[in-house]
Amino acid sequence: MAETGLAEAGAANTGPARTGTAHTGAAHTGAAHTGTAHIGAAHTDIFDVRLVVNGIVHTVAVPARRLLSDCLRHDLRLTGTHVGCEHGVCGACTVLVDGVATRSCLMLAVSADNTEITTVEGLAEPDGTLSPVQQAFADCHGLQCGF
Ligand code: FES
Repeated sequence: MAETGLAEAGAANTGPARTGTAHTGAAHTGAAHTGTAHIGAAHTDIFDVRLVVNGIVHTVAVPARRLLSDCLRHDLRLTGTHVGCEHGVCGACTVLVDGVATRSCLMLAVSADNTEITTVEGLAEPDGTLSPVQQAFADCHGLQCGF
């Protein structure tokens, strides 16, 4: 498989590696969770996630709450994955995760660690020839909204 040039987590990777520093203090060891000390802490944790997307290995640093759809579109610039309802209803964000059709708006990127993902871009032939599905979208002008 091709590498993206980003840091590879290695074969022993068993889960996303947290690279943030938000949980370093004694605040998480005590029983009392009072006051505002924890507000925002979970939102700043960053995890390294290894994704094989369309046969290319990527290691992406993402916040814990980053949706897989947003990771594909914004971090990997694979904008063929569209976002419509963001509620798992429309199917515009569907990708294959380990061969299973999955609504990427309902999956966190950290949950996809060490999976193989196929987006619509991955359906084309190596020479760029569109797959029948891609051609049908083009023929039916289904590209703007992705439905
Ligand atoms: S954006 Fe509609 S199902 Fe994901």
